[in-house]
Order: sequence, then C-alpha cells, then structure tokens
Amino acid sequence: METKTDINTATSVIDALNWRYATKKFDPKSKVTAEDMDTLMEAIRLAASSMGLQPYRFLRITDSKVRKQLREVSFDQPQITDASDMIVFAAKTDYTDADIDDFLEESQKQRGFDDNQIAQRKKSIQKHVAGFKGEDLLRWNARQMYIAIGQLLTQLP
Ligand SMILES: Cc1cc2nc3c(=O)[nH]c(=O)nc-3n(C[C@H](O)[C@H](O)[C@H](O)COP(=O)(O)O)c2cc1C
Repeated sequence: METKTDINTATSVIDALNWRYATKKFDPKSKVTAEDMDTLMEAIRLAASSMGLQPYRFLRITDSKVRKQLREVSFDQPQITDASDMIVFAAKTDYTDADIDDFLEESQKQRGFDDNQIAQRKKSIQKHVAGFKGEDLLRWNARQMYIAIGQLLTQLP
C-alpha cells in the first residue's frame, strides 16, 4: 500500500513535493519561525527571471487589518487571515526607465559590469520592453512572477 511521504523523513526535493499540499485550514496559533520566513523570502529574492529583471514585488503583509481587507476580496477564504504569515506577489503593470536604471545599478554592484556593458544592456532591455504592446507587458511580468512563486513552493522546510 502506498503511504504518504512524511516530511520529517524526506530526503529529496521529490519526497518533499510528494508531501506538499495546499493547506485549506490553518491553526492560527501555529507560527512559522522568523528564521524559516527569512529563508522563504530569500528563496523568492533569488528567483530567476528573463534578463534578471524580476518585474514584480513581493510584500509581507503583517497588518491584521490589511489581511482582513484582503480576505474580503479573496472569496472570504479563512486562509488569508489564519495562516501564520502572508506574502503578496504583485506583477508590475509597466517597466520604466527608472526600473531599468535601478536594476542595472544593482547588477553592476553585484556582477561588476563595466559602463560599456551596462549601456549595451540598457539598450537591449529598453528594446525588449518596448516590444510589448498594451497589457502584454503586464502578462510578461506576471509570467516572471510565477517563476518566483514556483520557487517558493519548492522550498524544503
Ligand atoms: C496560482 C494558484 C492559485 C491558487 N489559489 C488558491 C486559492 O485561492 N485558494 C485555495 O484554497 N487554493 C488555491 N490554490 C491551491 C490549488 O487549489 C492547489 O494547489 C490544487 O488544488 C492542487 O492541490 P495540492 O497543491 O494540494 O496538490 C492555488 C494554487 C495556485 C498555483
């Protein structure tokens, strides 16, 4: 008889994925530790995305009033207020020159690109972003965002 994987004995990502499930009812008293939350946030931060742009934001919602409001617009699902923590993913509706500059400044710091490489990358990102018409940019941004959500879902506890 097949038995459900026990997360305490999971030794691989596949074991952990066999255990993972969408929780429908949370014990409001049960809390994720601060250390585990930091790990989860870090997993999101390190997500891959096209050109590395990560055209989205992820927000940790700690205000219980805001969580109540979010529950109201989430089909009144109790998970929204009862889960230990809440992270909202928000795809950007645009991707401006200021966003490109912020991204390139950070890449230059982290990866040591020279000014010439940065100028070339800026042009290619601008060309790519300008290729999207209307809501296509939001859709493309949302697709990048879902990669980060998937990465969060595969984190081992
Ligand atoms: C993009 C997305 C949105 C989801 N929205 C909800 C939701 O609003 N409420 C909920 O209870 N589950 C939600 N789920 C969980 C799915 O219902 C669940 O993953 C699916 O039924 C498979 O079950 P499992 O994850 O336990 O294997 C969502 C999952 C994804 C990927």
